Amino acid sequence: MSEHHEEMTKTTPMQVVFASVGGLVPPLIAIFLIVQLVLSIQHSHVNKEADEALAKTVAERIKPVGEMKVVDANAPKVVKSGEEVFKAVCTSCHTSGALNAPKFGNKGDWGKRVSQGYETLVKHAIEGIRAMPARGGAADLSDLEVQRAVVYMANAGGAKFTDPK
Ligand code: HEC
Repeated sequence: MSEHHEEMTKTTPMQVVFASVGGLVPPLIAIFLIVQLVLSIQHSHVNKEADEALAKTVAERIKPVGEMKVVDANAPKVVKSGEEVFKAVCTSCHTSGALNAPKFGNKGDWGKRVSQGYETLVKHAIEGIRAMPARGGAADLSDLEVQRAVVYMANAGGAKFTDPK
């Protein structure tokens, strides 16, 4: 046993160094790399948030006073014709007669409605009536555009309204 022990202690200093280095360095490198990784992740997060916040603050500070919301800078709003509005919005119900909408061009469907008069038709088209949604569901249509669409549809159904300009 003691012989064996002696043999064990016969390791040279070089071996000890190699063993220590060999045993310690890889775990140390591993720990070092993990720490680096964690730090870099943390860093990138903190930095990103800080950068964004900073960019926002700066943009806020340097933005011109009296900002305007410009939807389309170069195109003044063009009033759509009745036909354009119809094709963009109203056709989805009034061509097929969906939800019992009076069909486009069908004089039977439109006769009684037209006899209510232009003002009433327009009021119902703008405010909606029963299954007919206000402005056909297109809230961005102006009154004039809805009026023109009503005229376009009613005239196709036998009315003789004049297109409001
Ligand atoms: C979601 C389907 C739908 C769309 C889209 C739609 N309508 Fe209608 N509309 C209806 C229905 C349904 C009726 C019948 C309502 C009733 O009398 O019960 C109707 C009725 C009307 C009437 C007759 C109202 C009256 O007093 O008799 C007018 C006018 C009309 N729509 C105009 C329009 C115009 C203009 C548009 C497009 C801007 C449009 N509608 C888009 C469903 C629609």
